[in-house]
Amino acid sequence: MKEHAYWDNRVAFVLAAIGSAIGLGNIWRFPYICYKFGGGAFLFAYLIVLIIVGIPLLLLEFSIGYKLKGSAPFSLGRIHYRVKGFEDDKELVERRGSFEWVGWFAILVGFGITTYYSVIMGWSADYLVYSFNTAWGNAPKEFFFNRVLGLTDSIFHLGGIRWPILLGLAVSWVWIVLSIWKGAKTVSKVVYVTVLLPWAILLVFVIRGLTLPGAFEGIKYYLTPDWSKLLHAELWHAAISQVFFSLTVGFGVMIAYASFLPPKSDIVNNAFLIGLADAATAYVGGFAVFSTLGYYAHLQGVPVSQVMKSGPELAFVTYPTIINHLPLAPLFGVLFFLMLLTLAIDSAFSLVESVVASIMDKFGIRRWKANIGVAVAGFLIGILYTTGGGLYWLDVVDHFMNNYGLFLVGLLESVIIAYFYRAENMRSFANSISERQIGKWWNFSIKWIVPLSALVLLVFSFTGTILSPYGGYPRRAEFLGGWLVLGVFIIASLVLSRYKKGGEA
Ligand code: TRP
Repeated sequence: MKEHAYWDNRVAFVLAAIGSAIGLGNIWRFPYICYKFGGGAFLFAYLIVLIIVGIPLLLLEFSIGYKLKGSAPFSLGRIHYRVKGFEDDKELVERRGSFEWVGWFAILVGFGITTYYSVIMGWSADYLVYSFNTAWGNAPKEFFFNRVLGLTDSIFHLGGIRWPILLGLAVSWVWIVLSIWKGAKTVSKVVYVTVLLPWAILLVFVIRGLTLPGAFEGIKYYLTPDWSKLLHAELWHAAISQVFFSLTVGFGVMIAYASFLPPKSDIVNNAFLIGLADAATAYVGGFAVFSTLGYYAHLQGVPVSQVMKSGPELAFVTYPTIINHLPLAPLFGVLFFLMLLTLAIDSAFSLVESVVASIMDKFGIRRWKANIGVAVAGFLIGILYTTGGGLYWLDVVDHFMNNYGLFLVGLLESVIIAYFYRAENMRSFANSISERQIGKWWNFSIKWIVPLSALVLLVFSFTGTILSPYGGYPRRAEFLGGWLVLGVFIIASLVLSRYKKGGEA
């Protein structure tokens, strides 16, 4: 039995997909990568990759979900392949198999990300509270690493649970579950707040940033193009990974979201709109980040390159430091962490929703049971990251999910559609329901560009990992947080896809 919910309207769908795409990656990852890989030159490369890899993949996921009407495992389970083999008596037999396991694998990788993404939301929730009296005082770095995280000296030294983080984590999960309580129905309402609010706050930070002394210096660092970087393979590697991660493709989310589209929905226009909105948010995010960093560098009398950080350190150390120097510091603190939380929440719940949709499709259980089951599982796993060694584990798992899981799914998805379902079939389907038409270039992208770039990145990551352990962690940690997790995910996907409900053929 399936309780099929649809989006309230087109705007709700578009906002939900944008909300899933924009997240911490737009604020703390994109600006830094852009600066590192030649500013304006990177922007140019990013847009190219977005058009030839990102949007085609987004279109692919939308078409799969819309055409096959279900979550990732359900939809991919409807695409079959034949295997020929011999029985014991050497008689030739044909068997049909399905790609359901790829859907489960995609979902599990996304779920793996959500287990730590929600912990980062937990930090943000704590910082929202700390902002009221700028609790980090004059030593934000010491405060974050020692007082909040209680970071230990090594990955195998867990050092106990940090209770405020655990509390923040619980709050995040409750918020996630409430946001998807009745599936697309609830999400349709929630996204007006969780997408529009962070955009509004971001605008406040851009304006505040640009009116600070030194802002222009910062922007110069961000955007001055270094065209020679276009010749470096690392730039393209970075652009492709960022596009994949930022669009939230390869996790089954967009498949599930498209399956909630009512009949007669356009997908081509929407895919372009969503892809470009995500890029625009990242680009504008860079103005907020770099103008503020320019101000900070100006205060310290150092070049911007010396204050540039990315990831957690940018959000939880550098930003609090800068906020200390602003008039109305608590207000900007609250706004900043509210922005992080609302940016992150819709990425997190989109993924949880896609897990819930998959479980409902497969096992026919009630939505509320699936919601709560997934949340409890995510919360329990997340406890690892709330310990003193949690940041190290977060780092390792993040690396493996993004550099292996994600590309593997991208590779498999494109190959399945291009060669088993046939790219042309999917293209004519997408065109038949959309106002704007996609040209034959899409087939080329899905057959060659997407799988080849995913494959090349997989090989890159693999040789990198073989040559030296990621981040200098012990091999044992890399095995537990990386290979073992991926292995378990693959086995679990195969088992899940084999499982049949009693009596079903
Ligand atoms: N797109 C999100 C961002 O830019 C990150 C993201 C990708 C994500 N896949 C996810 C978050 C799965 C949670 C779950 O930040």
